[in-house]
Amino acid sequence: MKRREFVSWVGVSGVITALPATVTACGQQTSTSQAPAAPIALRTDGFEVTGTVAELEQKGQLLNEKMLLGKALVVRETENQFIAVDPTCNHAGCNVEWNADQAFVCPCHDSKFANDGKLLQGPATESLALYTVKIEGDQVLVKKG
Ligand code: FES
Repeated sequence: MKRREFVSWVGVSGVITALPATVTACGQQTSTSQAPAAPIALRTDGFEVTGTVAELEQKGQLLNEKMLLGKALVVRETENQFIAVDPTCNHAGCNVEWNADQAFVCPCHDSKFANDGKLLQGPATESLALYTVKIEGDQVLVKKG
């Protein structure tokens, strides 16, 4: 290998070797310049954010399946009355839905639950767990119990 070829080869391999460090450095700079995503956590009062009132108004019901407490379905029964349940139907695990009759209905095999989560019609054999729900500003919060 001639001297000129060797210098050229070293120059190219040096760029290739330094490239990952350069990319990594750029990535680190980018990630530190943005605010980190807020960690999901229970508040000291045990409540957890399910979503926003705007989302609830838009969809008619608010389902969050990625909560620390598990899953929560929040519906607005009246102007100032909200209901929150664990939407998991114990028959086969489908999520119940809020219907026009003000009841929770399972779309898989038609189990029906009252607005307080009590089982009205099987094949499910257990009522839905009822959560405590409250509104703070634009946030919908729930907690077990
Ligand atoms: Fe709900 Fe079957 S999963 S009735």
